[in-house]
Amino acid sequence: MKALAGKVALVTGAGAGMGRAHALRLAADGARLFVTDVDEHGAGATVDMIRDAGGTATALGHDVSSEADWLDVLRFVDEACGYLDILVNNAGVVIYESLEAVAEQAWDRVFSINANGVFLGCRHGVSLLRKAKAGVIVNIGSSLFHYAIPTVASYVASKGAIAMLTKAAAYEYAPYGIRVNAVHPGIVATPMTESPLEDPDFVAAVVRTVPLRRVAEPSEIASVVAFLVSDRASFVTGADLVVDAGAFAGRGQGHG
Ligand SMILES: NC(=O)c1ccc[n+]([C@@H]2O[C@H](COP(=O)([O-])OP(=O)(O)OC[C@H]3O[C@@H](n4cnc5c(N)ncnc54)[C@H](O)[C@@H]3O)[C@@H](O)[C@H]2O)c1
Repeated sequence: MKALAGKVALVTGAGAGMGRAHALRLAADGARLFVTDVDEHGAGATVDMIRDAGGTATALGHDVSSEADWLDVLRFVDEACGYLDILVNNAGVVIYESLEAVAEQAWDRVFSINANGVFLGCRHGVSLLRKAKAGVIVNIGSSLFHYAIPTVASYVASKGAIAMLTKAAAYEYAPYGIRVNAVHPGIVATPMTESPLEDPDFVAAVVRTVPLRRVAEPSEIASVVAFLVSDRASFVTGADLVVDAGAFAGRGQGHG
């Protein structure tokens, strides 16, 4: 039997990039997917890919920074299935602006999606997750949650918030049997990184800091998410799982 047979899963920001990879992987493992994204067209394309592969999925328009959208989406899942086993808070954005240059409005936008979006998912998702046998949340942070690089202050700060929010939720939801973990990827080839990864100098500089000497494919992060949401990770909660090909391991030794 497939590892996630009979499970109901919701992945945010699943209309492209890593979110799509998570949705495809969880569906391949047997879960029934709710694929949500502010880009409804992208979400629909992901659903088509899942159905073509023999899976079951529904696309929903969803801005994770909107509490009203969260309530609508979760109501839809409740009416369709009555419970939720797996919530992957994946949606995120980045802006490349220094601390001195970033406007407050831009800072707020990054936080409203990256940090508040995860907060709203954890807060409102819990009622449906409690109806499942062993609910599980995975929050997608970034390896930039514990070291900074220039020009992405709003991004690294929002990812730091995700790391601590994950621990708080793990603590509070443990009595319900709900596990909550964070996955912190290093650099992954997705639409988010497409433009910087077109610059060979950028790629060379990044790869120098990565012991495995390459960027990740989205499926390599999705397989870690698939592990965390499965029963094989039944004793794992409150964890920060850094998936960065060793990049952080070299920090402090002059390599990054
Ligand atoms: N690509 C990387 O190198 C990398 C590294 C570490 C962490 N991450 C994180 O992984 C997650 C996915 O990143 P990605 O690289 O696939 O990004 P991406 O830009 O390729 O895809 C992000 C998806 O999120 C959607 N989205 C944006 N704002 C939204 C909103 N308000 N509500 C709902 N959906 C929204 C977009 O429409 C898009 O489909 C993000 O949280 C990102 O911060 C990415």
